[in-house]
Amino acid sequence: MNTIVYKIDEIDERVWLKDAGKVLADGGLVGIPTETVYGLAANALDEAAAAKIYAAKGRPSDNPLIVHIAGMEMIHDLVSELPETAKQLAEKFWPGPLTMVLPKSEKVPYGTTGGLDTVAIRMPSHPVAYKLISDCRIPLAAPSANTSGRPSPTKAEHVYEDLNGKIDMILDAGPVGIGIESTIVDLTGEVPMILRPGYITRDMLSEVVGEVEIDPAILGENKDKNFRPKAPGMKYKHYAPKGDLLLVSGERDNVVQAISRLASEKTSEGFRVGIIATEETKPMYDRLEASEGEVVVMSIGTRKDEATITHNLYDILRRMDDENVSFIYSESFGEGMLGQAIMNRLLKAAGHQQIYV
Ligand code: TXA
Ligand code: MG
Repeated sequence: MNTIVYKIDEIDERVWLKDAGKVLADGGLVGIPTETVYGLAANALDEAAAAKIYAAKGRPSDNPLIVHIAGMEMIHDLVSELPETAKQLAEKFWPGPLTMVLPKSEKVPYGTTGGLDTVAIRMPSHPVAYKLISDCRIPLAAPSANTSGRPSPTKAEHVYEDLNGKIDMILDAGPVGIGIESTIVDLTGEVPMILRPGYITRDMLSEVVGEVEIDPAILGENKDKNFRPKAPGMKYKHYAPKGDLLLVSGERDNVVQAISRLASEKTSEGFRVGIIATEETKPMYDRLEASEGEVVVMSIGTRKDEATITHNLYDILRRMDDENVSFIYSESFGEGMLGQAIMNRLLKAAGHQQIYV
């Protein structure tokens, strides 16, 4: 299959709207930008189209898809019930990086929900995603547009890298803003429960709907097999870079020292090593990088603005792959509003390998 790439700022809006809309109406696949990560979109109500998503990504079929809408009127076809909490959260956070799990209607095929009686719904704020859905009026099932097991795509180039030849079209609108996937909140129980942390934090949700729980299985400490995450996708080792990733936590100077020592050890054994630092600490590894040829140091962003860290996270993991490093040592990011979302992604990428110094 020949994958067509449209650069949004180089072609007329009417052209990409019409052509992408046609692909979707015909049951095809389009890589689309959203404010969180690029998504791989298909008609959510067409079981055969949804099946193509699983095939292109190599995704396990029990891992349900998020359905994207534009405008509240589109939700009524998709759910059998719309709780008050959902209306309040939609009012406050949609369009935006929040996904809500709700009881599904009969119209939504099990092929989209991975066999579940619930459906995850999100209204994206990215103008390209929003305009496309508004224009074609098709609810779009869209997981992240990466090959299963690779970091989520935050640039059209990442989508191309993973899915060229397997999908019909990519709409390239440049790098996305947020860089990590939406917060998922399950509204089917008594108390809303976060199934995946993201840019919309627990505190932000609580301000609107009161008490909010967090699925204990996603907090990272729990490797107990009985703690099955409620979002099926959260159980897979995701986002894994090719190099062996270890998170180093503790006070800053101790962390820098420990990472430097670990890196030197590995280079002396002949390995190529990557270090994930911050703007604040990158200069502290400079000497190491200069003296040991096989060390690559990248800054993930600044601790003064956590959004820079989410923005760069997946791109850095992919760049480490390109650098062919065998071992990656990363600083940790427990603090701050987005700390939980950042650590959730990094811990998964690391297969939960973490040390405290
Ligand atoms: O930001 C995002 O959410 C991006 C963009 C493209 O919108 N999409 C995304 O989709 O991250 P995906 O497929 O990579 O992750 C969807 C997650 C999975 O962990 C899946 O198990 C969970 O949502 N999920 C989907 N439907 C669910 C449901 N009915 N109940 C529980 N979890 C569900
Ligand atoms: Mg994904």
